[in-house]
Amino acid sequence: NLEQAVKKLISDFECPTDALKHAMEDFDELRRKGLEKDDEMLAMAPAYISSVPTGEETGDFLALDLGGTNLRVCWVRLLGEGKYEMKQSKATLPREIVRNESAQPLVDFICDHIELFINENFPEKVGVPEKEFLPMGFTFSYPMSQRSIVDTTLIRWTKGFNIPEAIGLDFGSTLTQGMKDRKLPVVIEAVINDTVGTLVTRAYTSNAYNTIMGVIFGTGSNGAYIENSSDIPKLNDAGNKEKMLINIEWGASSFKSLPATRYDLLLDHDTPNPGRQMFEKRVSGMYLGELFRRALFHLIKVYNFNNGIIPPSVTDSWSLETSVLSRIVVNRSAENIKEVLRPYGIRFRDDSEALLIYDVAYCIGRRSARISSVPIASLYLTTGHAGKKADIGVDGSLVEHYPNFVGMLRDALKDVLGEDEKNISIGIAKDGSGIGAALCALQAVKEK
Ligand code: BG6
Ligand code: GLC
Repeated sequence: NLEQAVKKLISDFECPTDALKHAMEDFDELRRKGLEKDDEMLAMAPAYISSVPTGEETGDFLALDLGGTNLRVCWVRLLGEGKYEMKQSKATLPREIVRNESAQPLVDFICDHIELFINENFPEKVGVPEKEFLPMGFTFSYPMSQRSIVDTTLIRWTKGFNIPEAIGLDFGSTLTQGMKDRKLPVVIEAVINDTVGTLVTRAYTSNAYNTIMGVIFGTGSNGAYIENSSDIPKLNDAGNKEKMLINIEWGASSFKSLPATRYDLLLDHDTPNPGRQMFEKRVSGMYLGELFRRALFHLIKVYNFNNGIIPPSVTDSWSLETSVLSRIVVNRSAENIKEVLRPYGIRFRDDSEALLIYDVAYCIGRRSARISSVPIASLYLTTGHAGKKADIGVDGSLVEHYPNFVGMLRDALKDVLGEDEKNISIGIAKDGSGIGAALCALQAVKEK
């Protein structure tokens, strides 16, 4: 019956502490392999940023942020003392642009928005000589390899983007050229991942008290940390820099010790990148609602839940967003669950049935938060921080909006780290991509 089916489903989504500990070992092995050479499961991409800010940085910069759902153009003024001012414009990325054979529509879309922003905010700058161009930092949150702070190559797309022609492209110079063609007074000085932006922003705004990682739990999931250059065998030229920020691209990990459920396998099959980003597909905001939809579908089809009626919201892939899950798990009451799911054509026989569905939603989010502890705990232990205080900057829609995401993550950290969990502070790095891009552009300009 339905109750037994839900029990089984919940146990499939369990992540016992032992499995998490095994996954930490797997992660450490993947991390080391990625540091050794290219084309491993984890990109472990050196970001060509060698230090974190002190908080005293100052200056004016433009920032561009291409994330999973939005494009942002910002103006940032770093004021020192960890403070800043910011102005930004935001646009949603149209689906036909991010799933397109050709890269040109995306490049045009980005240049159009920069042009609008410049015309609105810096009309006096249009037509100035090249040496007065405004420096821009670009947060590009997709797997890329880097040869310098500004030379990058897109390795592959994630988070549902699919623009085959853009693989291998250097987005920084493509956009700089696009802006030159339009006579826009902008030059991209640094290209960074959002996790790198999160790390440096957290360091800038939190008095630089030992921030060791920048982490995103949003549409996708990933982390960046600070590595010793001497521990990166694949790095040919560290340019005398002792440290190097690394964009891990941990969304790509697959852990042998955490078996996939039937819903994970079905979901994966329905993505443009099957077999890839297996960590991300269990953890991040792009996928949790879809896992829940697939669970509902199964319970209706096989266990006659909802009187066996499958509404369109449950038949259509990707039609249930993670925000629906958030609205359910925020309140374990039958009224709340009924209210949230009514518009989606779901009816309950009685209150206890509604609570069963709550438990389904809850276990999907809880698994996400528990698995999220794996790379964090592993990095903390294996990169010289064990037993010491360390700070982690986080950002993204899950940490911002999913009820108690950080609390569940901390519980899992306690399970795998014991007392050491108390040494770890976790704080939101607000405006991470804008401020981070500005800080990295500053470092690039200084090092020129
Ligand atoms: C935003 C950052 O705050 O968070 C982006 O500006 C980042 O760069 C994003 O990619 C991650 O969250 P989400 O939920 O938008 O993927
Ligand atoms: C995806 C991207 C990665 C990014 C993360 C969070 O995993 O590949 O670059 O950091 O999403 O936005």
